[in-house]
Amino acid sequence: MSTPLILRDPASARRWTLEHQASARRVALVPTMGALHRGHLALVDVARSHADHVIVSIFVNPTQFNRAEDFDSYPRVIDDDLAICAEHGVDAVYLPAAEAMYPSGFDTRIEPGSIASRWEGEHRAGHFSGVATVVIKLLNACAPDVAVFGAKDLQQLTVIRRTVTDLDLGVDIVAGDTIRESDGLAMSSRNRRLDSVARQRALAIHRGLLAAVACANAGHGPDAIERAARDLIDPAADDVEYVAVVDSATFERSPTMIDGCGYSVIVAAWFGGVRLIDNMALPRSA
Ligand code: PAF
Repeated sequence: MSTPLILRDPASARRWTLEHQASARRVALVPTMGALHRGHLALVDVARSHADHVIVSIFVNPTQFNRAEDFDSYPRVIDDDLAICAEHGVDAVYLPAAEAMYPSGFDTRIEPGSIASRWEGEHRAGHFSGVATVVIKLLNACAPDVAVFGAKDLQQLTVIRRTVTDLDLGVDIVAGDTIRESDGLAMSSRNRRLDSVARQRALAIHRGLLAAVACANAGHGPDAIERAARDLIDPAADDVEYVAVVDSATFERSPTMIDGCGYSVIVAAWFGGVRLIDNMALPRSA
């Protein structure tokens, strides 16, 4: 087990990457907000399969939180995170202070387009602008060949792919599968804030998503698929912000499903004061 190198500002992160790239070694970045769990480690494994060196960034980005209490209560366990990175053979950790990311006078924001206007974008004003801006900064600082993002945050992944393509950043964006607990709960740093009752109720999300997939498999369309998911999720949740069948590329709600296109069912719901999101791909033949 070797301790990862800790890099605290953009110049040292970029220098580290460029040194490796100068010897024809590829670098992969896994951007995170810390509170690392097995889902993140699976992303590190994906990163390693695409590169010779892996850098994990840890930064709780204030500009992507639309509620101050959500930002304040976001778990911060940096010593644990660094130990996990060391155990998992991460080569470097980019750990910028807020002042290194947003020095005084900082005055730029990326505004992603239509994909970002829906669902998460509608319920969390400014969220995707904050995400896109910080991700571009992380990509610029760490200058990786590849960056890996979790498919659990499917709309985020889609917005980032679009932004990276539109801005010609030349970084490969790779998706890591959603990792679930044995009872189906998608791994998320927010799960730490669920008490045992809320956690139990939150399992309805996975059951609802499985019911949606079964309904799609039976040949039903979006209305019936959403109803199948809601029948299980609505009674368990404190509030359901959305359950929707969307085109996985545009995130538009799809009233019908066209053969050959990719669709997903997406969910955001509250359990015991914690907001959870999840999604599942729907079979293409529906
Ligand atoms: O998915 C996350 O953890 C964050 O949104 C990200 C991509 C690290 C940007 O802050």
